[in-house]
Amino acid sequence: MTDSHIQLQDYYSPETFARLKSFADTKDTPFVVIDTATIDAAYQELEDNFPYANIYYAVKANPAPAILKLLTERGANFDIASIYELDKVLGFGVGPERISYGNTIKKSRDIRYFYEKGVRLFATDSEADLRNIARAAPGARIYVRILTEGTLTADWPLSRKFGCEIDMAMDLLILARDLGLEPYGVSFHVGSQQREISSWDAALGKVKVIFERLKEEDGIELKMINMGGGFPANYMTRTNDLQTYAQEITRFLEEDFGKDFPEIIIEPGRSLIANAGILVSEVVLISRKSRTALHRWVFTDVGKFSGLIETLDEAIKFPIYVEKKGELEDAVIAGPTCDSADIMYEHHKYPLPLNLAIGDRLYWLSTGAYTTSYSAVEFNGFPPLKEYCI
Ligand SMILES: Cc1ncc(COP(=O)(O)O)c(C=O)c1O
Repeated sequence: MTDSHIQLQDYYSPETFARLKSFADTKDTPFVVIDTATIDAAYQELEDNFPYANIYYAVKANPAPAILKLLTERGANFDIASIYELDKVLGFGVGPERISYGNTIKKSRDIRYFYEKGVRLFATDSEADLRNIARAAPGARIYVRILTEGTLTADWPLSRKFGCEIDMAMDLLILARDLGLEPYGVSFHVGSQQREISSWDAALGKVKVIFERLKEEDGIELKMINMGGGFPANYMTRTNDLQTYAQEITRFLEEDFGKDFPEIIIEPGRSLIANAGILVSEVVLISRKSRTALHRWVFTDVGKFSGLIETLDEAIKFPIYVEKKGELEDAVIAGPTCDSADIMYEHHKYPLPLNLAIGDRLYWLSTGAYTTSYSAVEFNGFPPLKEYCI
């Protein structure tokens, strides 16, 4: 088996790919198959590289029961976005002290629900939300999310919607104290699949200002920094490896906080799960738009609405592997629905073998994160993307 334009060994060991493929061969497409051993190894790598950090898994990346069970057993903590994720994680016997309510956008009654379940750690970035927390979760620990730069260098930016400027962050932490809450720390997310490591440096510089000014001017001693996610998965566009991220980020922390760090939290999603999954789809149709067209349209049985929404604006470029080899020609790749937005890659054309045929399989590598959890329930009648964990 040889590769088309990608080198399979850049993404999977031969044993891991063989294990996933032999399972995949027994199933009808489309589906994601997850190799839990790969997640286990990725978790270990994060622990080894950030030995001083508490890991809070961002459940939104993939809430599959087998993944939650594995991470629960590994001792992970959990970054939770909704009451539904909360119930799921508590169902595995996770104690509320291992949970952070990381969504800054929440209903008052949902805050109360978390509080009644015993959760005491809450993110915020606005006064209205903070006042809701003070009412529904008295005495809770508060961390304020700040805005960060880095939008242009993250493949999937998260800025603008979340966070506030540092002046407001300080006002909120002071207000938290005045409302009887515990001003506990500061968080940021530099953008998902952040390729520019210095984004953490800029963010930590802001955090340091908040820590120092609150201490000097208001006698508030913050205890925690939540550095969010943004650590890399292995897609088509290159990144540094995790070790380089960790070495640099640790250096930034030492420069700002000396050897004696506050409590450090990281919230990996993509970097922990993406590489463990392969989405397997089948070619439905291959066509050209004219007799002389220089590229084909390859339609497959998975698309933007069934798990590949991160191809929006062609943001995440998943490596695609096919078994056939031979001469390559550029192709547009599109999904199966009657929606013209359901095109995954049109500007960035993927070279695929000329002998690719209807019925052949496409292996979308590094698709363990943000695929199944994004899949629509019934668009055009297609069922949600299936998932198997082995
Ligand atoms: C609050 C929060 N933390 C962590 C993450 C995970 O980020 P990543 O997948 O880049 O690791 C996200 C992703 O959206 C998030 O919203």
